[in-house]
Amino acid sequence: MTNQAVDDRRARGAETGSARPVPRPSLRDEVRSTFAMRRDQVGFLNQMIGRYGDIVQIRVLGIKMAMLNHPDYFEHVLVRNHENYNKDTFLFRAIAPILRGGLIGNVGGEPWRHQRRTMQPSFHRPQVAGFALNMTDETAQMLDRWDRQYGPSDVVNVSTELGQLAMRIVFRSLFGAKVGARGKAIEDMFFEANQIACAFFRFPLIPLTWPTPSHRRLAEIIRTMDGFVADIIADRVRSGEQHDDLLDAMLHAVDDVTGTGLSEQQLHREVLNLIIGGYETTSNSVSWLMHTVGQHPEVQQRLLDEVDTVLNGRAPTFDDVLNLKYTRMIVDETLRLYTPAWQTMRSSIEEDVIGGFRIPAKSDLYLNIYALHRHPEFWPDPETFDPDRFTPDEVAKRPKQAYIPFGSGPRICIGKHFALTELVIILAMIAQRYRVVIPPGCGNVQPEPLITLHPKGGVHVRVVRR
Ligand code: HEM
Repeated sequence: MTNQAVDDRRARGAETGSARPVPRPSLRDEVRSTFAMRRDQVGFLNQMIGRYGDIVQIRVLGIKMAMLNHPDYFEHVLVRNHENYNKDTFLFRAIAPILRGGLIGNVGGEPWRHQRRTMQPSFHRPQVAGFALNMTDETAQMLDRWDRQYGPSDVVNVSTELGQLAMRIVFRSLFGAKVGARGKAIEDMFFEANQIACAFFRFPLIPLTWPTPSHRRLAEIIRTMDGFVADIIADRVRSGEQHDDLLDAMLHAVDDVTGTGLSEQQLHREVLNLIIGGYETTSNSVSWLMHTVGQHPEVQQRLLDEVDTVLNGRAPTFDDVLNLKYTRMIVDETLRLYTPAWQTMRSSIEEDVIGGFRIPAKSDLYLNIYALHRHPEFWPDPETFDPDRFTPDEVAKRPKQAYIPFGSGPRICIGKHFALTELVIILAMIAQRYRVVIPPGCGNVQPEPLITLHPKGGVHVRVVRR
């Protein structure tokens, strides 16, 4: 441990003496919590914040954890004192059989640092600029099909459509355009695996390691996906061909510090982690974008005006994304209200103090990003959709950690720029061709809090050619 770390610990130790325990809910709320969490998790957690404030002890499936809901507390855990927090928590242990030590759920420390250092260059700006071509091409193909398939009175399940698009984009960015028929089969399997994982989160009492029929099927799909990646790698090694995709980049990536790359087994795991990280989150976000834009015609009109002015009828390029400022503000506000990664967890390594409250060593912390994005101190009238919250002046007035759809600190989402580029491109390209109209009876879409925040029942709109 460095001298600085020892000093910090001493300072914390001195502080812990006067620190208060994390507030506990009343016995009545404790007893209610198990049922209330099953019935309406988000609503119950909001009630707890309303009643007890920005830090309170909760129980999830009988496990005690401190729920945090203030930007300063997030800053402490994710940024300032991040070395004291890892992912050895109930949430990440539950999905470990899927993530298998890949970047998303890796506990932390040097193994995580090595993986992150090795993979980070594959997500730098020039690489994302290359992926932008996949995004525009795949979106154009989907819209050309919409032109043939849907008339102005048809009701389109855009969640299904945009889920497929998000999947195509992540697959093509990973494996290139030529993955062929087997790629399609793998895409379908991934959809199936995702449904099994979502069903698990609706009722997470039977661990994924128990061999129920659906859990066995999940394990089989993971093995098949590993085999698929192994075959592609073997083909590439045999042919000696260079490819311009993420798999090639990661295959040749080297950690600057250790001089080593990823083993083949680790590569399999990271590929699956990137599909998981990149598919569900982006797919839900584009669905919510259709919902928010369809619900707010005045916002949609400003969007149409912007894409017409900036793009003048041509497909967006990576450089255009910076100029599509209002489009980006719509994306930001949608990610505030419907933040796909709406919760995460950390565990304290040593005793600590957060905002004057004592956090014993090995405490589970529940980071409620959904509630943080509605904190009334930083978001007046929080349920109202208003992209103007994201003008540069408004952003400058808020603490940075009041808005963290991609997390914060060293474990911030590795795909943040990939995702933002994708969301802006898809929204701009849809707006170039169509007006999004919510048909009667389809406007009340409720968030369903699973691994990510789903639009319950999907988003249904009419797409009317402009
Ligand atoms: C709208 C889209 C996305 C959202 C909202 C999102 C959100 C997040 C959040 C909140 C975290 C941090 C979780 C934590 O601290 O516990 C995270 C991590 C991660 N995300 Fe994303 N993500 C998105 C898209 C993507 C994409 C496109 C990829 C890959 C292509 C990706 C890959 C990952 C990975 C690998 C991590 C783990 C990083 C680490 O711990 O070093 N995500 N994401």
